[in-house]
Amino acid sequence: MAHRITLIPGDGIGPEVSAAVVRIIEAAGVAIEWEEHDAGIVAFERTGSTLPQSLLDSVIRNRVALKGPVTTPVGEGFTSVNVGLRKALDLYANLRPVTNLPGVPSRFQGVDMIIVRENTEDLYAGLENEIVPGVVAGLKVITAVASERIARFAFKHATENGRRKVTAIHKANIMKQADGLFLRCARAVAKEYPDIQYDEKIVDNACMQLVMRPEQFDVLLLPNLYGDIVSDLAAGLVGGLGVVPGANLGENSAVFEAVHGSAPDIAGQDLANPTALLLSALTMLRYIGERSSADVIFGAVSRVLAAGTTLTRDLGGSATTTQFTDAVVREIAAHR
Ligand code: NAI
Repeated sequence: MAHRITLIPGDGIGPEVSAAVVRIIEAAGVAIEWEEHDAGIVAFERTGSTLPQSLLDSVIRNRVALKGPVTTPVGEGFTSVNVGLRKALDLYANLRPVTNLPGVPSRFQGVDMIIVRENTEDLYAGLENEIVPGVVAGLKVITAVASERIARFAFKHATENGRRKVTAIHKANIMKQADGLFLRCARAVAKEYPDIQYDEKIVDNACMQLVMRPEQFDVLLLPNLYGDIVSDLAAGLVGGLGVVPGANLGENSAVFEAVHGSAPDIAGQDLANPTALLLSALTMLRYIGERSSADVIFGAVSRVLAAGTTLTRDLGGSATTTQFTDAVVREIAAHR
């Protein structure tokens, strides 16, 4: 029986990388009935809403979605569809594995870390106020419930995946109350997992350590904003945003998407690297029980990357999105 999965192509490079991933999954013979939904400006123009209820209903029904990036206007306009979706479905855990891939040029080797980012609160609550003209206050919301929940997720994930250490990243020297609460929750949960080492780093030092000795990190546990920033930094350690996958996980549903955004600078030019969304989709296939198909596709994409002859521009090659996708599809066919 075919899996029913919600597909949100998004905008910018989203439709290009989504189409590539759908093609590759089809080539591997996985039976999926995609329920396609618009979000963001495209949805707004058609329905008057950037995050239509029909999209949310589809994800709730199917419990699984694959999502391309959605543009958020900077400094004005509508609020983030991505944040809205995570909040609406309570997708509280943002999981981002950052590892070297064969053949992908990068400044470091031996990077193998998992970023666990709290996905529902912090400064992303979007509570901003102009108190008087020229003075704006933004509210940073940290709760014990959400902090404990994400800490437990990180330790559980570490235990189930043979990881040894969880590092909580914070700025509790300055935000003594908000980040202080986040840390207290992490410490309490750490006590429940004596087999997992636990340590803490102030976020500025963590950034320096990440670009000096990234191999020292295993699982990173972060509140929302630091998690967002550190994810892009970490992507830069292993070849960039074109290769780092992600997942937004909740109790009832899961939305798989890459770390990268809509990349307006290269959108519509057949230049985007679909690897990040493809690897996100492989996590999705494993999540729905299609482990062997995920392995087949991973083998194919690894061989294409390692061969180094059909790399997209972000990885130093000159292949288009279509040429890279063709190469992966050919590899799958050759090994089926
Ligand atoms: P971005 O991630 O879209 O792009 C940053 C740089 O990385 C650009 O030079 C871009 O060309 C490159 N890049 C990103 N993905 C790539 C890929 N797959 N292949 C090759 N190169 C790639 O970040 P930016 O420019 O800061 O944000 C653009 C828009 O995306 C904004 O509106 C932002 O709000 C949105 N965004 C959406 C996200 C989501 O839907 N989850 C996540 C991050 C940003």
